[in-house]
Amino acid sequence: MKFFVDTANLDQIRDAQNLGVLDGVTTNPSLMAKEGITGRENILKHYVAICNIVDGDVSAEVIATDFDGMVKEGEELASLHEQIIVKLPMIKAGVKAAKYFSDKGIKTNVTLVFSAGQALLAAKAGATYVSPFIGRLDDISTDGLNLIAEIRLIYDNYGFETQILAASVRHTMHVIDCAKLGADVITGPLSSIEGLLNHPLTDIGLAKFLADYNKGN
Ligand code: G3P
Repeated sequence: MKFFVDTANLDQIRDAQNLGVLDGVTTNPSLMAKEGITGRENILKHYVAICNIVDGDVSAEVIATDFDGMVKEGEELASLHEQIIVKLPMIKAGVKAAKYFSDKGIKTNVTLVFSAGQALLAAKAGATYVSPFIGRLDDISTDGLNLIAEIRLIYDNYGFETQILAASVRHTMHVIDCAKLGADVITGPLSSIEGLLNHPLTDIGLAKFLADYNKGN
C-alpha cells in the first residue's frame, strides 16, 4: 500500500518525506491556491520543487476541460519531471485524454471520481491511478468506503491494473479502512498518516521501560 500526502505545502511534504514512509504527493488547483501559488509559470516551478523533495509520483492537474487542451497541458506537465503523473478530471474529454496518454506510456490519475461506473471507465481508458473522493462522499451522507469496496471488486473481477488511489482521506480511520478494503494508495493530510503512530499503551509501556531502566542507573 502506498502513502501519498495531499498538499502543495513544501514544509509538510518535507516532513512527510523525512518520516521515511512517503510514496508520493497529490495536488490540485485548490491546494496550489491555498499555498498562494498562482500563475502558470509559478505553478509549474512548484511541481518541480515538489518532485525534488519526494522520491515517488507527483500528480499535477490539467486545467483545460477540452481534449486538445488536456493533451497540450498534460504533455507540458509530463515533460517537467519524470515523476509527474498527469491528473485529469472524470469528464468525457478526460477519459479520452487518459486513453491518449496511456497509449503514449504517460502515467495518469483520473480524479473527481464518485461512482463505480466512473472508475470502470477510467480503468478501461488505461489510467494508472483512479481517485475516488471518499471524504466528499461522506460529507453528503454517502458511504465513501463502500465506493472503494465496489471499485476493488470490479477491478479484481477483470484484472484491471489501474491503482485505486483513495483520495479526500480526512483522518486515520479512513487510512485503516482503506487498507482493509485493499485500496492501493491513500492520499490525505500528513496528520492522517501520523495518527497511525498513536496508542496510549505504547506511551505507557515506553514510560515504564525507561523508568525501570533508570532505577538501575
Ligand atoms: O485528493 C483529493 C482531495 O484534494 C480532496 O480532498 O479534503 O478537499 O475533499 P478534500
